[in-house]
Amino acid sequence: MTQERASRKKGSHTATVLSNVQAGECFWKLRLRFDGEAAKAFAGFTPGQFVQFDVSDLAIPSTDSIPTALLDGARRSVLLRRPFSFSDVTADGDTTTADLLYCIVGPASLRMTTLREGDTTHLIGPLGNGFAVPEGKRTALLVVGGMGLPPIRCLAKSLSVEHPDITAVAFIGSRTVNALPLEERPARFDEGLSLSVPTFATLGIASMVATDDGSAGHRGPVTKCLSHWLQENADRPREETVVYACGPERMLAAVARIANETDIDCQVSMERRMACGIGLCQSCAVECRVAGSDEIIYKLCCQDGPVFDAREVFFGADDA
Ligand SMILES: Cc1cc2nc3c(=O)[nH]c(=O)nc-3n(C[C@H](O)[C@H](O)[C@H](O)COP(=O)(O)OP(=O)(O)OC[C@H]3O[C@@H](n4cnc5c(N)ncnc54)[C@H](O)[C@@H]3O)c2cc1C
Ligand code: FES
Repeated sequence: MTQERASRKKGSHTATVLSNVQAGECFWKLRLRFDGEAAKAFAGFTPGQFVQFDVSDLAIPSTDSIPTALLDGARRSVLLRRPFSFSDVTADGDTTTADLLYCIVGPASLRMTTLREGDTTHLIGPLGNGFAVPEGKRTALLVVGGMGLPPIRCLAKSLSVEHPDITAVAFIGSRTVNALPLEERPARFDEGLSLSVPTFATLGIASMVATDDGSAGHRGPVTKCLSHWLQENADRPREETVVYACGPERMLAAVARIANETDIDCQVSMERRMACGIGLCQSCAVECRVAGSDEIIYKLCCQDGPVFDAREVFFGADDA
């Protein structure tokens, strides 16, 4: 994974479910195995790419396991596939395994909880571009907001394996401690930058947690931690640093602003509702600036993204 972006080879594939378990208060972890052609296609998966998951033939879970807030919408049929990123991809000989961390927010994610070991699933992918690692970078700052974690976790692993010369630091933000998309939570989070968040610690990556309500780590937006780190490390050459971010759009806008003010390269993974995922329906438009002019054009999140250069994205009111 260097300058060149992800392979555009994509296809309709099946995968076998290895496990599907609740992995925290708010999310589940699905482990898939790809064989044959699918294994080859996903062996080249670039962190930040995504798949369009087909849940149309999955059952609705029993009423007592449906969160009250979702009871009304749970029975809506799900014709359109849904986009998901992988948090980990491992190619091993003729098989490739991939982990998908998902949050239950509606009928599709609810149906995904009924998948059991040995089931077959259908998806299209790998889709989109994924994160790039520009030449000459020595420091990567990984900024996560809530369920923005999966592609950043995947990137963190890829950096530690393929770019051991790059020092990565993770900043993980969430509304509250229970909504942190972490599979293993330490007994306590260290106040400063430390190896306390297992997801990143196992990769040798130090991390910092911020929660809106102060229930873990720093109280307040994760972007404050990023700004603070940049101030404390002002002597590091900016051109050797790159920021990667995935999370709510307001967070991405704030990260983009900080990166712009400090003249640091920044890539943001945008989220849009996606109907087709392959550039046909135009439902996933992202407003982008034309370099050197005031003109705004629309790019497609599924094809031109989901990862964009932060300088390119027009965040609307958040851009002010
Ligand atoms: C590139 C990409 C990668 C993604 N990766 C993951 C992942 O790894 N894990 C994960 O849990 N989710 C991920 N998502 C989000 C996931 O696609 C949605 O949560 C999905 O729509 C859930 O389907 P559903 O039928 O359960 O809920 P829906 O009924 O589709 O959605 C429920 C509610 O969630 C909100 N919502 C859903 N999708 C979006 C969106 N794209 N933008 C803004 N709001 C939205 C809306 O308020 C909606 O009413 C990703 C999205 C994109 C675009
Ligand atoms: S999702 Fe259809 S064009 Fe992007």
